[in-house]
Amino acid sequence: MKIIVLNGSPKGSVSVTMQYVAYMQKKFPAHEYRIFNVALDIRKIEKDDAVFGGIIDAVRTADLVLWAFPLYFMLVPSQYKRFIELVFERHAEEAFSGKYTASLSTSIHFFDYTAHAYVHAICDDLGMRYGGFYSAGMRDLLIAEERSRLEKFAQVLFSILSDKVPIQREHAPLVWPSWPYVPGPAPEPVRTGRKKVVILTDSDDSSANCAKMTGRLMQAFSGTAELVNLHDADIRGGCLGCCQCGYDNTCVYADGYRDLFTKTLGAADIVIMAGTVHDRYLSSIWKQFFDRSFFKGHIPGLKGKQIGFVIAGPLQQLPNLKEVLSAWADNGGCRALFVTDECGDSGKLDALLDATATRLVKGAEIGYIPPHTFYAVGGHKIFRDSIYGDMRLAFQADYHYYREHGMFDFPRKDLRTRIFNAIFVPLIKIPGFRKKIFSDIKHHMIQPFEGVLRNT
Ligand SMILES: Cc1cc2nc3c(=O)[nH]c(=O)nc-3n(C[C@H](O)[C@H](O)[C@H](O)COP(=O)(O)O)c2cc1C
Repeated sequence: MKIIVLNGSPKGSVSVTMQYVAYMQKKFPAHEYRIFNVALDIRKIEKDDAVFGGIIDAVRTADLVLWAFPLYFMLVPSQYKRFIELVFERHAEEAFSGKYTASLSTSIHFFDYTAHAYVHAICDDLGMRYGGFYSAGMRDLLIAEERSRLEKFAQVLFSILSDKVPIQREHAPLVWPSWPYVPGPAPEPVRTGRKKVVILTDSDDSSANCAKMTGRLMQAFSGTAELVNLHDADIRGGCLGCCQCGYDNTCVYADGYRDLFTKTLGAADIVIMAGTVHDRYLSSIWKQFFDRSFFKGHIPGLKGKQIGFVIAGPLQQLPNLKEVLSAWADNGGCRALFVTDECGDSGKLDALLDATATRLVKGAEIGYIPPHTFYAVGGHKIFRDSIYGDMRLAFQADYHYYREHGMFDFPRKDLRTRIFNAIFVPLIKIPGFRKKIFSDIKHHMIQPFEGVLRNT
C-alpha cells in the first residue's frame, strides 16, 4: 500500500508528530511511505509550481493520504492551512478525490476534536473517503498501552482500505451568501468616550462584503477606530513551533508582530476581527495571526477585551469555526460578539453592525466579561496541570504568571474543602448520618448562599 503523509509540523521531520508516523512505519514496514513536509516547505510550495505539482502527483498515486499535524490554536498550523488553500486555489481537488484518508495529530488535547473536525470536513470537500482520526497526547508514544492503541488504529484503518469500506460524507457542501452588501447612509455614531477601538482585518479583493462591513464599522464609533490590515502588518511568517518564547515570551522573529499584539491590540478596549471564510476557517493569514500569539504562551494576552467577530461567509454552516473562535475568546478572558453577512439584506446588515458597535461599547463601559464556560474551565485545568508539570521547564514565563496570578488552584490547595472532607467523608459511612444528610440534601446545597442573599 502506498501511503502519502502530509506533514503539518513546521518543524519538519524533527517533530513530535513524525515520531508517531515513524512508529507506524516500523510496525507496518510492508507499506510504502512518502512524507512531504508541507508546513516546513510552504514558501517553496507556494512559489514553485513544480514543488506543489510533485506533491499533488504523489497524492494522485496514493492508496492512503495521511494528514499528520500538530494542533495549533485548536486547528492546524497556518502553514498547513495555506497548503489546503493552495489545493483549492490551484484546482488540485481531483488528485485527492476518491482517496482513502485519515488524520493523525499530537497535542495536549486542548480542542483536538475541532482540528480533526476541520480536516475531516476538508477531506469531505475534496471528495475523499475519511477513515477516522487519531489524536495522540504528545507523550503517548512512551506508554506501551498507547503504542498498542496506535497500532490498532492503523490496523483498523488499513482494513478499511483492504475491505474497500464505503464511507459517507458527513459535512454538507457550503452554500455561500453571495450578494452585494450596499451600506446605507452613515449611522449616528455611538459615543466611545475614552474607549479605544481597533479593527483588525485581512480584507483583500476576495470579499467586497468584508471590506464594506469594516467600512460601516469605521463610521459607527464616535472616536477614531484604528484599522490594521494583516496583509500590511510586518509579520514575516507563521509560528515555527520552536518554543523559544517559552522562557520569557521573546519570539525568534524580529518583526512587527509583538508590537501589534501588545501595543496596538493591548491598548484597545474593543477589538474587531474581520475576515472572510476561506474553506472552513478564516484565511491562513488570520490563522498566522492566532498562531503567532503563542509568543505569550498560555498567558491570556488580550484579557478583558470586547471582541467583535465580523465575518463574511457561511458561519451558520460552520459550527466548528464558531466554536473555535468562541473558545479562543473564552479562554482569553474576552467577550465575543458575532456578526456575519448571512442576513442577505443591506438594511438589516447595517442595523446588525450598528447594534454590534453599540453593544461592544456598552460592554467596554461596564466591563462585562461573561462567566467562563466549559471551554475555558476545562482549558484552564489542562494548561494548569501541564504548566505545573511536564511543560514547566520550557514554559517558565507561563509558570511564573500562573503562580503570581493564583492559577495553580488545585483542589488540594483549598484548606476549607480538605478539612470538610476529612471530617464528613468518614461520617457519611454511618447509616444514620448518611440518611440525615441525603434526606435534606437540597437544603444543604443552598445553605451556603443564605449569607450572600441575606446581606444583599
Ligand atoms: C503555536 C502553537 C499552538 C498550539 N496550540 C495547541 C492547541 O490548540 N491545543 C493543543 O492541545 N496543543 C497545542 N499546541 C501543542 C502542540 O500541538 C504539540 O506540542 C505538538 O505535539 C507539537 O507537534 P510537532 O512537534 O509535531 O510540531 C500548540 C503548540 C504551538 C507551538
